[in-house]
Amino acid sequence: MSGSTSGPALPDFPWDSLADHTATARSHPDGVVDLSVGTPVDPVPELIRDALAAVSDQPGYPTTHGTPELRQAAVDALARRFGVTGLDPVAVLPTIGSKELVAWLPTLLGVRAGDLVAIPELAYPTYEVGALLAGAEVARVEGLTALGPRRPALLWLNSPSNPTGRVLPIEHLRKVVDWARERGTIVASDECYLSLTWDADAVSILDPRVSGGSTEGLLAVHSLSKSSSLAGYRAGFVTGDPALVKRLLEIRKHAGMIVPRPV
Ligand SMILES: Cc1ncc(COP(=O)(O)O)c(C=O)c1O
Repeated sequence: MSGSTSGPALPDFPWDSLADHTATARSHPDGVVDLSVGTPVDPVPELIRDALAAVSDQPGYPTTHGTPELRQAAVDALARRFGVTGLDPVAVLPTIGSKELVAWLPTLLGVRAGDLVAIPELAYPTYEVGALLAGAEVARVEGLTALGPRRPALLWLNSPSNPTGRVLPIEHLRKVVDWARERGTIVASDECYLSLTWDADAVSILDPRVSGGSTEGLLAVHSLSKSSSLAGYRAGFVTGDPALVKRLLEIRKHAGMIVPRPV
């Protein structure tokens, strides 16, 4: 951990801490297979580039909540691609890619010092960073039993997982949701790889077989970075429990966390 006198102590930025190892690997005669940063390399699809270009004249401010058409498109896409039905478009909130939301979600939800945030044992680094930014304690757990009687304010899931690729089955997700609801724990599910499986059946936390048909206490975090080669444009959204999304929207309006209109 690198110390700081005026803020939370954050871990070293992972790509910085990998620099020495990468240099060593590069010195190998056959070069390096660099899996450290998963940045999309396929071109941005023509359809998307045309759509972006067609709306480039945007002198006015965009709205934090996005347009009704955007929110409906997100709801339709979740239904069409993942069988998530019954979502209220009002509960869709565009995000500037998903990393910023992951980093600020605990703070925006009011998680504070003394609270606990549970994250997967091997995980995308920003779950921990977000908890630390909020001043909360972090528990890295592989399964709920490791938490014993503790009641996290927030629990992160990531299926399919970065970095392990593990896909959580429906029964497991259902158990997590039941467990969390009994404890008043909010479940945030990072679903940026949901469409990127070969044969596994990756399901959303908002799949009715998981959620029981209710979004209570649940948030699904989506990103277009990987699924549409749009990392360069920063496009994502969060949806789920309307009361939670409303809270996020209120603060993000004040803080100017707004997705550019063309995106
Ligand atoms: C698990 C996971 N979540 C979130 C992100 C953030 O992606 P983005 O901010 O581009 O949406 C990544 C990016 O690598 C990731 O691997």
